[in-house]
Amino acid sequence: MSNKTSPTARRQADSYFVTCAPGVEALLHAELRALKLGRVERQVGGVYFEGSERDCMRANLHLRTAVRVLRRLARFQASGSDELYDCASQVAWENWLPIGATLLVAAHTKDSTLDHSHFIEQRVKDAICDALLERRGARPTVDKQRPDLRVHAHFYRDRCTLLVDTSGESLARRGWRRFTGRAPMAETLAAAVLMHSGWDCRSPLIDPFCGSGTLFVEALLLATGKAPGSLRERFAFESFPDFDARLWRRLLDEARGLERPLGKLRIVGSDLDGATLEGAAKNLAAAGFEGAVQLEVRDAAHFAPKRGWNGWVVTNPPYGERLGRSEDLLGLYRAFGERLRASCEGYSLALLSGAEDLSAALELGNAERHRITNGALECELLCAKL
Ligand SMILES: C[S@@+](CC[C@H](N)C(=O)[O-])C[C@H]1O[C@@H](n2cnc3c(N)ncnc32)[C@H](O)[C@@H]1O
Repeated sequence: MSNKTSPTARRQADSYFVTCAPGVEALLHAELRALKLGRVERQVGGVYFEGSERDCMRANLHLRTAVRVLRRLARFQASGSDELYDCASQVAWENWLPIGATLLVAAHTKDSTLDHSHFIEQRVKDAICDALLERRGARPTVDKQRPDLRVHAHFYRDRCTLLVDTSGESLARRGWRRFTGRAPMAETLAAAVLMHSGWDCRSPLIDPFCGSGTLFVEALLLATGKAPGSLRERFAFESFPDFDARLWRRLLDEARGLERPLGKLRIVGSDLDGATLEGAAKNLAAAGFEGAVQLEVRDAAHFAPKRGWNGWVVTNPPYGERLGRSEDLLGLYRAFGERLRASCEGYSLALLSGAEDLSAALELGNAERHRITNGALECELLCAKL
């Protein structure tokens, strides 16, 4: 177990696990490859890579489908509570928690003797606090809301991996959201849906159930090459004791240098609810894309995009799970499906649906289906050439 981590050792190849929503691993893998990171390996629920502190910062700044970038500190076998405590105590926590810094431990366990995540969290927290008390006479305190350091303990078949969260809040929190709406899509999922759709960043893009405009902001970030993390206020790695602020500023400047002007992009959004569209406009403005999207109140049951545009319809109609289920919803899907078949010839479609009967009501027999989760909801993404 290599758990004595000195600040110098941190600048050599470290191991990282980048988490994502189940079903998104292949896209995240491609993103990490595009960043030219080392030893990129796809796993369940995320992607592993090896790299430096610089690579960790770049991953946090540029990845669109990632939820968190976790840095691995230690791996060991532990089938008992004392083993866990002893191994967790040996990590050089003083390199991660300066005096006065706060802590939170989150555990996840599968197929292991230690099968209570809350118990694991307590033991790891005690090991960290006791080790720091012994080494420098002060314990860190726990902060459940905004800890300076989040430690993850993952157990699988009695093998424990301890990781520190270099991101902090989920990377879905890009920093542009001013309005939430009733059932917004996570920003990371919107990026995944757009990438799956094959949208070329140039053709017209239409969302007839646009809600708070998440798909549009993510589409515009993609089209302008803007790093999704460039609007965010803070990443956890900025509080690490040996954080290299000059390097971080350089990476931010480099990212800005890669941005492209928007050019002529046709993006059209509609929703039944006018107040929601006002919220979408606020979100777009906060992301720096004021006026880039034409927004209008419209019932998607009468959807009829411009003929001949041959663009993309990328959308996330109401599921009923959060917005309330009714016969009307099936009727809306039937009507919308009819509109897609009748008036969208030449368009490509990517539609995130939350229920099989709703997908079936669209009557899009030729659609490809991908399993993807939206928070706690199992969804399917239907992709079709109309
Ligand atoms: C699941 S939400 C879309 C969320 C959106 N992707 C976001 O990130 O905010 C579905 C949206 O469909 C809208 N809606 C419901 N019925 C509609 C209809 N008949 N026509 C157009 N929009 C409708 C709701 O107002 C809601 O904003």
